[in-house]
Amino acid sequence: MLARVTLLAIHVLSAEGALYYPDARTSFLEHILVDNWGAYASNFSSAITPCARYVTQTGDAALKSGRTTAAQWIRVLFHDMITANVTAGTGGVDASIGFETARGEKSGSAFNDSFTFWRPFVNDAVSMADLVALGTVMSDNLCGGRMMQYKAGRVDASSAGLTTGVPAPETDLDTTLLYFERAGFDRADAIGLTACGHTLSSVHHGGIPDVVDATAVTPNNSNGGADFDSTRGVFGPLVVQEYVSWAGQKGGPLVTTSNISTQSDRRLYESDNNATMQALLAQGPDFLDTCVSLMGRAIDTMPYSVNLRSPITPMAIKPVNVTYDFGVDGKLKLSGNIRVLSAAGASSPSSLDLSINGYHASLTAEDSTGSSVFGTTAYFPFSVSSDLIRNAPSFSVSATSFALQGQIFVAPSMTTITGATVNATIASSGHACSSLSIEVHSPNRQGYTLAPKVMQAGGNLTAVAPRIDGCGLCRAVMQLADIPTDSIAVNALVSGGVVDTLFQNGGAVGW
Ligand code: HEM
Ligand SMILES: *[C@@H]1O[C@H](CO)[C@@H](O)[C@H](O)[C@H]1NC(C)=O
Ligand SMILES: *[C@@H]1O[C@H](CO)[C@@H](O)[C@H](O)[C@H]1NC(C)=O
Ligand SMILES: *[C@@H]1O[C@H](CO)[C@@H](O)[C@H](O)[C@H]1NC(C)=O
Ligand SMILES: *[C@@H]1O[C@H](CO)[C@@H](O)[C@H](O)[C@H]1NC(C)=O
Ligand SMILES: *[C@@H]1O[C@H](CO)[C@@H](O)[C@H](O)[C@H]1NC(C)=O
Ligand SMILES: *[C@@H]1O[C@H](CO)[C@@H](O)[C@H](O)[C@H]1NC(C)=O
Ligand SMILES: *[C@@H]1O[C@H](CO)[C@@H](O)[C@H](O)[C@H]1NC(C)=O
Ligand SMILES: *[C@@H]1O[C@H](CO)[C@@H](O)[C@H](O)[C@H]1NC(C)=O
Ligand SMILES: *[C@@H]1O[C@H](CO)[C@@H](O)[C@H](O)[C@H]1NC(C)=O
Repeated sequence: MLARVTLLAIHVLSAEGALYYPDARTSFLEHILVDNWGAYASNFSSAITPCARYVTQTGDAALKSGRTTAAQWIRVLFHDMITANVTAGTGGVDASIGFETARGEKSGSAFNDSFTFWRPFVNDAVSMADLVALGTVMSDNLCGGRMMQYKAGRVDASSAGLTTGVPAPETDLDTTLLYFERAGFDRADAIGLTACGHTLSSVHHGGIPDVVDATAVTPNNSNGGADFDSTRGVFGPLVVQEYVSWAGQKGGPLVTTSNISTQSDRRLYESDNNATMQALLAQGPDFLDTCVSLMGRAIDTMPYSVNLRSPITPMAIKPVNVTYDFGVDGKLKLSGNIRVLSAAGASSPSSLDLSINGYHASLTAEDSTGSSVFGTTAYFPFSVSSDLIRNAPSFSVSATSFALQGQIFVAPSMTTITGATVNATIASSGHACSSLSIEVHSPNRQGYTLAPKVMQAGGNLTAVAPRIDGCGLCRAVMQLADIPTDSIAVNALVSGGVVDTLFQNGGAVGW
């Protein structure tokens, strides 16, 4: 759904205008980051809580698989990232791995498993590459690590990357270090990043039989996972402790396997006579800060052509689904929900003051609240159909003001998607249909990867009578190339500039 909130005044019609707060990308990704459990939770974190969970199979099969989704997500990030060449400024986190699952170095189900889960979250504002990075941030944040900063703006590759070569268990040390160096990580970084990656989960007989033999496969561990440390579902320093003190899992199968050529972690950890591993151990729990730093560099490894936005931080007051539309009574209305985030321990406000252009109301919170590592969320819904909302330049909740534009908007109740057909209506109080245009951006299936490709379609707007509550209606019926994989962005434009966007049909996952 949409938030018809903009920081730009309506007279700047040529500039990109009404959008989700503060923009669609930030709004959606902040939602995944912050709305973890309870009211309006994003479904994203359900895959990795509890952290030893495996979502790809269901029921007993998942519990007994010996696989771990939180870990799969981090490994996907590593494999997508490590083919970067930072000297050439190519590769990095660009979801190109989706096209590369047939390469021997990227075989196994982990990559497509993760993309299958992430696919419904991709739309015009959210790239698969941003989700690859967010997967690692969420796994770290929710499974025992310290908070990672998250920036968005990654761009999906449109084909497989040209650079090949991912460290595998049998890769010799020099080649392994060369791959890390190519991506901007020196020896100590490589050791640290690998120890951080290898704190969750296991090496599996199913996929890596040269490292873990068939004896690992049991009815309770059907994929034959042999764990890196004694806490498979906890992101923490235990893997380092167990390696250095030669206890428990002793650093895991890539250290201890009897097949010497596949002892890649042992070769790497010993390559500086254990100096880095000992230094990591000496950090104690602050090992987690090293992981935040190294994994932070990994998620921000990108082609020169891509620039990330500023970090996404949890918003204290966030308008959600704030939109103009028409009520069943045919009256213009402005409705939505205000999310208030309170730090853990602090209490949520019991009411909020809403003002719109001289209209005032006191909002009360819904009963159910949400929660996350950032605190508790409470929701204050509203729906106003007073004449005062017409052309209101802004609204404010408890002294925080948000700019609005209601002069041209895609009407949610009159915009439907049926299969691959979009029937969209733009309402405008002052513009003739001939001065408006419409464009839809829909995520669609493409060949060779599970990452959707965002496609554009246009249409011709025609006026439909009668006017409703002072607004003229312009309608277009458009055909998409295929049934969209998730929500489509319907853009209203004036002179080629977007003045409003509605994300419609969030699919099963929703927003
Ligand atoms: C020398 C470098 C590395 C080698 C040779 C290597 C190799 C492997 C292998 C063979 C597995 C087992 C996969 C399976 O059976 O499912 C694995 C698992 C894993 N690796 Fe690495 N890895 C390396 C570095 C890294 C790094 C730098 C990270 C991330 C920061 C990482 C993250 C993971 C994770 C999270 C798993 C568990 C995956 C799962 O359970 O699905 N690895 N690695
Ligand atoms: C926003 O609207 C969507 C679609 O109707 C709905 O699924 C979601 O629960 C709403 N979120 C909030 C916070 O009201
Ligand atoms: C949410 O994710 C879980 C896996 O964690 C999945 O089983 C479920 O179908 C998803 N729900 C929706 C509405 O997509
Ligand atoms: C990275 O790219 C540079 C410049 O194109 C090239 O000279 C170098 O060989 C590449 N590095 C690796 C390890 O492939
Ligand atoms: C050891 O691993 C290597 C490299 O993967 C493989 O070629 C070899 O067959 C393995 N040896 C045994 C005894 O499993
Ligand atoms: C398998 O797990 C179940 C509980 O999930 C447990 O009762 C059973 O003892 C386990 N079997 C073995 C062989 O470990
Ligand atoms: C590195 O540490 C491991 C685990 O304590 C030990 O087995 C190994 O001999 C050490 N290697 C070197 C070169 O110090
Ligand atoms: C498009 O939707 C409107 C209602 O919003 C409906 O009246 C109209 O018949 C639809 N047009 C088509 C071609 O489906
Ligand atoms: C992953 O999915 C893509 C796209 O559907 C497919 O082409 C590829 O073969 C799959 N890879 C694996 C290993 O199943
Ligand atoms: C819009 O109308 C023009 C002129 O009639 C036509 O050529 C074009 O195909 C139409 N576009 C769409 C998307 O229907």
